[in-house]
Amino acid sequence: MRHAALGFRCQRRSRHGLPEKMFAMKQTKTTDGLDPIIFVIFGGAGDLAWRKLIPALFDLSLDRSQPAQFAIIAVDRINLSDVALRNRWHDGVNQFSRFGKAKTVAWNLIAQHLHYQQGDFKQSSTYAKLGAQCANLEKQWATKGRRIFYMATPPSMFGEIPKYLGQAGLARDREWARIVIEKPIGYDLESARALNAVLAASFEESQIFRIDHYLGKETVQNILAFRFANPLFEPLWNRRYIDSVTITVAEIVGVEHRGGYYDHAGALRDMVQNHLMQLLCLVAMEPMISFEADEIRNKKVDVLHAARPIHRDAVPQCAVRGQYGPGRADGKKVPGYREEDGVAIDSQTETFVALKLFIDNWRWQDVPFYLRTGKCLPRQASEISIQFRAVPHQSFPTEASLGWQASRLILAIQPVEGIVLGFQAKYPGPKMQLRPVDMRFSYHESFDARSPDAYETLLWDVMKGDATLFMRADQVEAAWQWLMPVLEAWQATMPSDFPNYAAGTWGPEDAQRLLAQGHSWPQPTLLVDQVTTKLNPKPQKNNQRNFLK
Ligand code: BG6
Repeated sequence: MRHAALGFRCQRRSRHGLPEKMFAMKQTKTTDGLDPIIFVIFGGAGDLAWRKLIPALFDLSLDRSQPAQFAIIAVDRINLSDVALRNRWHDGVNQFSRFGKAKTVAWNLIAQHLHYQQGDFKQSSTYAKLGAQCANLEKQWATKGRRIFYMATPPSMFGEIPKYLGQAGLARDREWARIVIEKPIGYDLESARALNAVLAASFEESQIFRIDHYLGKETVQNILAFRFANPLFEPLWNRRYIDSVTITVAEIVGVEHRGGYYDHAGALRDMVQNHLMQLLCLVAMEPMISFEADEIRNKKVDVLHAARPIHRDAVPQCAVRGQYGPGRADGKKVPGYREEDGVAIDSQTETFVALKLFIDNWRWQDVPFYLRTGKCLPRQASEISIQFRAVPHQSFPTEASLGWQASRLILAIQPVEGIVLGFQAKYPGPKMQLRPVDMRFSYHESFDARSPDAYETLLWDVMKGDATLFMRADQVEAAWQWLMPVLEAWQATMPSDFPNYAAGTWGPEDAQRLLAQGHSWPQPTLLVDQVTTKLNPKPQKNNQRNFLK
């Protein structure tokens, strides 16, 4: 959809009448609200802690959003000294902190809180030793039994660690012993149920924080703000006015160094079961009564329960899979998926998924929701595109509306962060001519504050004990349940045409056949180009003529 730009900008307004910068200063979080805490990272010598967790905790401390009294213990199998661990994490912070390289003073302040404990995750002695170390550090930092256990391990350990923590009595404090688990939560419905049961044997649901990092993204959280803090769109947010909804999470990258994991997962498990289903819930849910974690999670799970089940025989009409072959991405030659490290040479794993689904309730009956995600696509673009229905009667002469396009609202999640509303406007001149134009809100332009990394938001929430942005057991299981017929049908019939799209293209042609007549996959390429260039346009005379050329 190519729209002319309308000279419209959303400006950040402070209700307090303060200039933006002063308002932001007043809003700066302090350490006041956070209790002293011990963070235990199982798998602390691994990639996740190095790349994400420690940089996020470090950034929180720079933002004064980390308690002043705390300790972090990394537990892992390899032999490492405290000093070696600190050096490794220092390197991670230097590379991945959003504030850039760590200043020595700031790093030294943190470094004294970091400790390493070697141990086998499947040995009771590891947990006995951990308990003793926590007790020791508790005296030093007055953390009073507040502990967060983060499983940054391979998924094979997810079912083990909670058991041992329970047996060692480390899960007993129902308010303050919290466990954080990363996806994948199970491999299918049965294994997800089994994993939830293992967690539930040692921890109450309120102690369990299942991370979906998409929910920590500012733009994803803004979906709720946009929908429910404004009266403008909600009256239109239903089958009467909305024609279709498309959710795209397109990645330009391939499987990178994660071929071994990915080849056993595939795009359906890796992206759809969690990230795309969460986006779907946020777009389709009913308004919440309050901002309580369980109230929001109830509303989200209602969406999954209302998703029309797909019968196994109907899978080909509702789901398309693809795998990339050699091609070009980002201007460079890229190998096909089957040539990636850790991937079987005859792999049948999908790297692209497109789905069509319906939500059977009063709001959404018969409105198609199209979901697609894939690796090695031409652009990185995560966005939700809401296409409105055509006007009931076309009053303008045909020649006036030759360039007519459906009105569309785009919630751009990344890399562009903002909202675009596309509609029709009169083209200047004596004749009545209509042209599509758009209004845009850009995070970058409207707010001075920098967006925190999703992990900062999520870790901060775990410390506060706020589970709003985390997945509850029933949500995870409902998502699996809905996807099971697709998984089973795909497992039963191996694809005969893999690889069926070249790296650097928009996936297999078959994805087109899911779409109802008159629908097309929105072109994120154009949207991204449009938004990035037009959100920061150079002042131009005769602006409109240029855009409409
Ligand atoms: C992860 C998937 O959960 O999300 C990856 O395992 C994927 O395969 C990543 O690349 C995408 O996240 P983001 O934040 O880069 O869109």
